[in-house]
Amino acid sequence: MDGTLHRIKRTTSTQHEARRLIEEGLARPGDMVVADEQTAGRGRFGRTWISPNGGLYATIILASDPLLSLKAGLALVNVLRRAGVFAVLKWPNDLLVGSLKIAGILIEATSEFSLVGIGLNLTSSPLDTATHVTRYVQDVDPDEWSQRIARELVEMTEKALDLDAYRAACITLGQNVRLDGVEDEPPVEGIATDVDDQGRLIVRTSKGERTISSGECFHLRPQGEGNCFVS
Ligand code: BTN
Repeated sequence: MDGTLHRIKRTTSTQHEARRLIEEGLARPGDMVVADEQTAGRGRFGRTWISPNGGLYATIILASDPLLSLKAGLALVNVLRRAGVFAVLKWPNDLLVGSLKIAGILIEATSEFSLVGIGLNLTSSPLDTATHVTRYVQDVDPDEWSQRIARELVEMTEKALDLDAYRAACITLGQNVRLDGVEDEPPVEGIATDVDDQGRLIVRTSKGERTISSGECFHLRPQGEGNCFVS
């Protein structure tokens, strides 16, 4: 990677740490903050990201980009697949292997940049609904993985999103889905049919087509099997 790798053993959250380094003029776009452990790791939707040793916790500072959320997801898919881990995406950027989560991405803004926070389960998974890299490949070196991720992310943001590659990796398409937290509305349910060039999910509902730009996506079992969350 071209930027600086700021390595820390333990911190509250690499997102906080990156923000602090930017404010103090010690970090710039392309830099990455990586920790072995976080004491107050944050996930999407205000959740906690449990962050013991065994995970890779990283924040990379990047220029803002409206498609960053999808690009970051696809970058991580590429890194994982190149290493032999067949990861797929749940819209917009949850990384799964089968139905088990292997990584998550949290994007936050500063006044100038975007902070792309990546939590990747490397050698252990803190939850039953999760999996980790060493279940599929051996000998993972966290520093090498951090560098690979940073390189791929920076490269991905320097070019246009390959929407077809994103669509091919996104297992949400074709599934019955439920989206919570869409514009303060009740949950939206239907079949996810596409992702448009702005990264929005197109959902065919009983009341017509909806174009969803944000919300939490759940995959539901096919109709007839009961609507039960599978991820
Ligand atoms: C999700 O909810 O799926 C996103 C999780 C993102 C977690 C990462 S770990 C590194 C960075 N620091 C944080 O506090 N959160 C992100």
